[in-house]
Amino acid sequence: MNVLTNAAAAQHSSYLMELEDLYNAHNYHPLPVVLERGSGIEVWDVEGKRYYDFLSAYSAVNQGHCHPRIIGALTEQAQKLTLTSRAFYSNLLGIYAEYITGYFGFDRVLPMNTGVEGGETAIKLARRWGYDVKGIPTNQAKILFVEGNFWGRTLAAISSSTDSTSYKGYGPFMPNFEIIPYNDLPALERALQDPNVAGFMFEPIQGEAGVVVPDDDYIPGIRALCSKHRVLMIADEVQTGIARTGKRLCCDHYDVKPDILILGKALSGGVLPVSAVLSSDEVMLTIKPGEHGSTFGGNPLACAVAMEALRVVVDEDLSGNAERMGVIFRKRMTDLQAKRPDLITLVRGKGLLNAVVINDTEDSKTAWKICLQLAENGLLAKPTHGNIIRFAPPLVITEEQIHTCCDIIEKVVATF
Ligand SMILES: Cc1ncc(COP(=O)(O)O)c(C=O)c1O
Repeated sequence: MNVLTNAAAAQHSSYLMELEDLYNAHNYHPLPVVLERGSGIEVWDVEGKRYYDFLSAYSAVNQGHCHPRIIGALTEQAQKLTLTSRAFYSNLLGIYAEYITGYFGFDRVLPMNTGVEGGETAIKLARRWGYDVKGIPTNQAKILFVEGNFWGRTLAAISSSTDSTSYKGYGPFMPNFEIIPYNDLPALERALQDPNVAGFMFEPIQGEAGVVVPDDDYIPGIRALCSKHRVLMIADEVQTGIARTGKRLCCDHYDVKPDILILGKALSGGVLPVSAVLSSDEVMLTIKPGEHGSTFGGNPLACAVAMEALRVVVDEDLSGNAERMGVIFRKRMTDLQAKRPDLITLVRGKGLLNAVVINDTEDSKTAWKICLQLAENGLLAKPTHGNIIRFAPPLVITEEQIHTCCDIIEKVVATF
């Protein structure tokens, strides 16, 4: 069927939204904007209206939409070889593995595709290390998580979730997952008394929970406690990693190195699903041939794209820019909060991962309405947990652009 009938062409956006509504699963509730093009921090809808993107596909597009160097690497490699599977060697996997391990300072990498696969891989590695190295009795290994965590939608991921929207109606769940409060070192120390704990998985800043930044001593405290109790510290930097918070990794703010690092999203600059788990020989070599894998993990296209995406981060000093622009953004937003304390209760974040908390309940519509007005005024952002608006533009944003965008936010807030 030709989907674009003449009548439909007249209302392009509404027709395309209706098609999704009719034929796609209803597993998302998008803002009513239909995008067709992007460049840098800007995207355009099918009617040609331009927006500043302040979501960056949940921090996957850190390098900006369609970065020419990343698209160049993609198209060049796409014409040579895209997929070999791991049944054979490719000319790029070894070069990529050497590059990414050197870049982040780990012995080895295990390449996967999506962020949630990275999380699954990290947990399998921790369990395996728990049995083979730590000596945990068979099938007794426990993994610790924190309240408010988000690492995807697989059964293991929702088994560790405290958000009923994620897990309700999908049981039974994975055994031997224990959930403790976030940003609570005494709770972690208590949980670590159990000798069967193999790993502790956490986000250095909780993105989906609403950009929740822990106390300054939390990450160093996790490092010390995990080392003391011989438990693997697993940092999920799928959202916080790759310059988003103003350093290459969020853990770098604290000079802390986790035992297992999970990366995804911006590892490809948002071009295709590429994730990676990095760790030591001791952990990584517990997995033997045939025991874990993925048809697409480590494919030549992903290797070429990820290397270029990582080079762009260095060459364009995206960490430094995220740090500088983040300071300006939070200053403008805290000034706005001072003007409108009735509407804005909190501004928080690091680098260009920030949130503005709206003074309303989680099930209120105020934040959603603000986001609709922002879109009307040419800026795209989305609420998380009802009353929290996350602001995370691509890291290539300039000072002039950030001020223009803060002007838009100020203008919209003034109408509420
Ligand atoms: C911290 C974190 N981990 C893991 C994931 C899952 O990544 P993906 O959606 O690519 O599976 C996300 C996605 O938002 C995330 O924010």
